[in-house]
Amino acid sequence: MTKTPIGRKLGQKVKKGKLKASSRRWLERHINDPYVQRAKLEGYRARAAFKLLEIDEKHQILKGARRIIDLGAAPGSWSQIAAKVTNSTEEDIRVAAIDFLEVVPIPGVKILQMDFLDPEAPAKLIEAVGGTPNLVISDMAAPTTGHQKTDHLRTMHLCEVAAYFAVEVLAEGGHFLAKTFQGGTERDLLNMLKQNFRQVLHIKPASSRSESVEMFLLAKGFKGRRVMQEEAAEEHEETL
Ligand SMILES: C[S@@+](CC[C@H](N)C(=O)[O-])C[C@H]1O[C@@H](n2cnc3c(N)ncnc32)[C@H](O)[C@@H]1O
Repeated sequence: MTKTPIGRKLGQKVKKGKLKASSRRWLERHINDPYVQRAKLEGYRARAAFKLLEIDEKHQILKGARRIIDLGAAPGSWSQIAAKVTNSTEEDIRVAAIDFLEVVPIPGVKILQMDFLDPEAPAKLIEAVGGTPNLVISDMAAPTTGHQKTDHLRTMHLCEVAAYFAVEVLAEGGHFLAKTFQGGTERDLLNMLKQNFRQVLHIKPASSRSESVEMFLLAKGFKGRRVMQEEAAEEHEETL
């Protein structure tokens, strides 16, 4: 049995008892997950922290981030990282986060407890972040209903709304990162992102469980709203 840096053994079994077999399997996987143990050791609220850090290691999206909006933030590990990289403080807030679940306060992060799909959410987020963000990150996943296709479609919808929000709020040169599913990103959404960003790619970080169909969509280098308007005008002229 391997020992982890915090002295916990990997490969532990949970005794058969009152737990349902599926819950026991989940618990076993959780306590034996090296990323869960690393998150504890490094003070992150969730193993999800390593997905963002891994993506950043390869694609450098956090370097130079001055203001960040974090969508679907609970329990808060991405916001913890965002506050650190932007040097956000209570006196000078540079990170705004939203989740309909409660998030235990994080110094330097303005947390909104509301549904991102609420029509008032975009304006509240922009006000909360205190200036033009150059990074929008979304780890939003719709609450599971047990019906895989429904869950999938709902999460894809969140990804799409987040993408349209990003092109409305980002500073030129900014980046957008969002959770999506393997093969799930709609062609129209991809085209819209390709029109507005210099580079668009799908990523599966090693810390994302291999059995999960989760992927991340990264759009780098926002071309700016002036480019968007010019391209829209050109397209309009071509169709006349
Ligand atoms: C995978 S968790 C995010 C983990 C987070 N990135 C972290 O590092 O701690 C996904 C979150 O998305 C939130 N979420 C899903 N739909 C949402 C919506 N419509 N509005 C706000 N939050 C939403 C869920 O409540 C959940 O907390």
